Amino acid sequence: MAVRQVLRMGHPTLLKVAQPVTEFNTAALDRLIEDMFDTMAEQEGVGLAAPQIDESLRIVIFGFELSERYPDAEPIPTTVLINPVIEFIDAEQQAGWEGCLSVPGLRGVVPRYTHIRYCGVDQAGNAIDRMAKDFHARVVQHEVDHLDGILYPQKIEDMNQFGFLEELELRNKLD
Ligand code: NI
Repeated sequence: MAVRQVLRMGHPTLLKVAQPVTEFNTAALDRLIEDMFDTMAEQEGVGLAAPQIDESLRIVIFGFELSERYPDAEPIPTTVLINPVIEFIDAEQQAGWEGCLSVPGLRGVVPRYTHIRYCGVDQAGNAIDRMAKDFHARVVQHEVDHLDGILYPQKIEDMNQFGFLEELELRNKLD
């Protein structure tokens, strides 16, 4: 069990395309995923990608019952998703506020597909194949972007809708 340091935007690992996981059911993989959950819990995040703790592997975790960061969000099942693939069900997109543990203190409006299907495996190699919509779909797209070296500020279309959470809250700009 260990809380790891979360890399911040500007660190080169966050810009890399992460490598697929090829070995499952290993102690090293289990330990890494445990560290990811410990780190996500400590930071009160709703998702975390392995590159954020300087492990350039295609692993994301996400899920929560109730999030302090996103109090209005519907619960998402706690998930370990390895080597993920996302399919967009239709062309519909929605703009919504996002934050990232690698971009602390900031929020920005990012368009994301509303309906997706995501596939992958868990740490034991069991298949995962799910449909998701809205915030669940947003979280998965955000986390999987990390595996391709993409951070959400790169996807903001209107830079007027990007700022420090404290300032935005003060002005009630958040939806
Ligand atoms: Ni993030």
